Amino acid sequence: MSKRRRLIVANWKMYGRLTSGLVLARDIAAFAETARPLSFDLVLCPPATLTWAIGETLQGTQVMLGGQDCHTATHGAYTGDISAAMLVDLGCRYVILGHSERRHGHGESNELIAKKVEAAQVAGLTTIVCVGETAEDLKAGATAEIIGKQVRESLPKNIRTSDLVIAYEPVWAIGTGQQPEPKDIVAVNRHIRNALGDIGETVRLLYGGSVTPSNAGGILAEDEIDGLLVGSASLNADGFWAITEPCRI
Ligand code: PGA
Repeated sequence: MSKRRRLIVANWKMYGRLTSGLVLARDIAAFAETARPLSFDLVLCPPATLTWAIGETLQGTQVMLGGQDCHTATHGAYTGDISAAMLVDLGCRYVILGHSERRHGHGESNELIAKKVEAAQVAGLTTIVCVGETAEDLKAGATAEIIGKQVRESLPKNIRTSDLVIAYEPVWAIGTGQQPEPKDIVAVNRHIRNALGDIGETVRLLYGGSVTPSNAGGILAEDEIDGLLVGSASLNADGFWAITEPCRI
């Protein structure tokens, strides 16, 4: 069992309409109620359109709320963007930053992500910073190098480690049904902790990429893996709750 408090995060991406999203959030919160007090942290990151309504639904429950991205500024003329302060306003405690769908789909650089992390921490959010190699990087044997660079460059200088989580999400494993072996995830985690230097032991490291109820147990059996970032399998309350099973003590 990991020595850090475990964390399971649902990343709903661009899925969920008002009715279906509320039902899903309510069902997950109801499952969490059956295990009060929760022995791990549980966070839902719905699309921005649902954040307010789901925040209301989660009031008084054991489930925390998170955003999927934020801007570097607190406010301003940035059409379509959302600031960290706005997420805090809606009750968010966490934000995912640097997801590969933002890095690759929106051209986000390590430098931009570092600025977002800083803005999120100033606003009081815990940041879940995603890193991960592509299939080409993997084939080239460049995983450690790529991950080390992403970790070093995607974090601001004055990082608050109590509010930092890093998610290792190999790009080739996201939504593909493919996955590294747990021992390979542990090896990458070691690189991440090395790249973090002095703060390495305190930061929670998650794994994400094609997590399902049937493979979550094997991953969470590793002491060095502090939790999971779950995409498609978090869109089903029964399945998502089953994924948290190894964290329940
Ligand atoms: P997946 O997504 O679980 O659907 O592979 C994980 C993620 O992108 O965070």
